[in-house]
Amino acid sequence: MRIINTLTVVFSAAILFGCGNQNSTNTKKTQAILDMKRATDQHSYSKPSESVVKHLEWDAEVHFDSKTIDATATYTVESSDDAERIILDIRELNIKSVKIDGVDASYEIGEEMPFIGSPLSIDISPETKEVSVEYTTQPGADAFLWVDGEDAFLFTQSQAILARTWIPCQDSPGVRFTYNARVKVPSNTMALMSAENPTQRNSEGVYDFKMTQPIPSYLMALAVGNVEFRSVGEHTGVYATPDLIDAAEYEFAEMEDLLVAAEGLYGKYRWERYDLLVLPAAFPFGGMENPRLTFATPTIIAGDRSLVSLVAHELAHSWSGNLVTNSTWDDFWLNEGFTVYFEQRIMEAVYGREISEMLASLSYQGLIKEVEEIMDLNPSDTHLRLHLKDRNPDDGMTAIAYDKGYMFLRMLEETVGRKKFDLFLKEYFNKNAFQVMDTDNFIAYLNANLLTTEELQDQAMIYDWIDGEGLPSNCPEVMSDRIKKVDNIFYFWTQNDIVTKNIPWNEWTYQERYRFLSNTNDEITLEDLEELNTQFDILSTGNNEVLFAWLEQAIFKNHTESYPRLEEFLVNIGRRKFLTPLYRAMLETGQKEMALDIYSKARGNYHSVATVTMDELLGLDSE
Ligand code: BES
Ligand code: ZN
Repeated sequence: MRIINTLTVVFSAAILFGCGNQNSTNTKKTQAILDMKRATDQHSYSKPSESVVKHLEWDAEVHFDSKTIDATATYTVESSDDAERIILDIRELNIKSVKIDGVDASYEIGEEMPFIGSPLSIDISPETKEVSVEYTTQPGADAFLWVDGEDAFLFTQSQAILARTWIPCQDSPGVRFTYNARVKVPSNTMALMSAENPTQRNSEGVYDFKMTQPIPSYLMALAVGNVEFRSVGEHTGVYATPDLIDAAEYEFAEMEDLLVAAEGLYGKYRWERYDLLVLPAAFPFGGMENPRLTFATPTIIAGDRSLVSLVAHELAHSWSGNLVTNSTWDDFWLNEGFTVYFEQRIMEAVYGREISEMLASLSYQGLIKEVEEIMDLNPSDTHLRLHLKDRNPDDGMTAIAYDKGYMFLRMLEETVGRKKFDLFLKEYFNKNAFQVMDTDNFIAYLNANLLTTEELQDQAMIYDWIDGEGLPSNCPEVMSDRIKKVDNIFYFWTQNDIVTKNIPWNEWTYQERYRFLSNTNDEITLEDLEELNTQFDILSTGNNEVLFAWLEQAIFKNHTESYPRLEEFLVNIGRRKFLTPLYRAMLETGQKEMALDIYSKARGNYHSVATVTMDELLGLDSE
């Protein structure tokens, strides 16, 4: 049995550094900070200080029948004067041959550790320029999801440490490289990558890709399927399967506005195009910020553009994350907290403060709830700086990195004023573009460039945020007026002072509906739910966030009329953010049998990211 939290993984740590000094415009001050010792990445065997990959040529053929990829990866490397080997991370790959400058090389594959995989150690000399590895992936490789049949589809999810299950690589966010790829796929499909992409199918089924900006391995991505492209703006477009392309074109028509707003806030978009690919519903996340091509769940197609904040989020990663990258997964908040902040600012710029404050209020509500839960389980997991050594980095994907991170930045904004804060952020992205950042270096940068007096530093209480539990006393309390009104209506409804038909459900935005439903507490009865559903036909909503919030309450209150919809939702949708609370609600309410029954029908449709979590939740063996 594999239990992610109790693993004891012992492996040699990699000292990370010195890669990606693209930008020569750094000031002396910034350079001094960048020269500080970097944090160690506990989740990679690579030793980039000895030998580092600068460029990858990936030549691959995708086989849907065997669910494998045959590939040759050729790396351009740079090594120290006494380098003897280069170490790549691999997991469950079949290595066929390794060559150096075209000649067979000696190599060794170390012991395999859960999640981490093995080191592929290749003997080199300091002069070695080119190393190549010929290999085959395994059908069950954790990064992949293969959809069978007529709608055959393949997509990868590399973050956090799954790139090594489909490409041998120095799988650490601190190592950046450029890449070119040539990918052969069945001729009824098109291939797309986190790179310059085709917009049309070709009859040979061979596609060439170029990523000229250096990126970390967790941003390597591939998707193969019967997709079409529609342009929605000068630099923006959508890819989706034929059944969804019209809906996607409508839903994401405002992408160019988001891009323009983002550039207006924090500087030029550095990746040329920004496109979005709608994936099968099995995609385990809402979105993934693969450079130039965000991967997104179809569950954000609501028909009314109400869920575009997710696009704002993934777009924001083009700065926070993709341009300035967390050095290790312990620094994950530098990616996600900044991105949630930036997302809210884009939403405010395009849709107004009222909307963005509703989103911020929901984020705050979620944070309070999750901080409480995590404090019960493992209080140090509420630190912004995470402690993921010997653990699956996936464990770090909680509201702490996202929403506590957001609150920290919002507090900084409120402390120094928006004008100053915006200037600071813009400069931060510029000066550190194509570099890594860890928590200590960020604090040094922050103190040198924003919190320049002791008074400001005291006011900000930085270490209470970074290495302290829960929420510091200077955490902003966010409550939008409209959300407050929802709470009032909810209260009067529970007191029978407002009757169900007078709830302004039909005038509400999705945020207000979501808030209303997720407010539901012990005072709500099954009859109340029935009345709500009769009045507003909530079960037929096209908004999956609202449906999710409803289904969770339906489970708590045993609203069996919702159960067929619940099963359909869980069998078709593989987004972990929805799955975990729904399965958990069934367990908490003594409906484990139903949970197991639905899971037995659904599991085969889920991505490994989801099954690892659900297997553990439901107490099943992972293997
Ligand atoms: N980069 C994340 C997804 C991720 C994080 C994948 C860690 C694997 C490991 C992405 O940007 C993200 O945060 N997605 C969110 C959406 C969002 C609006 C908060 C999601 O999928 O729910
Ligand atoms: Zn994100």
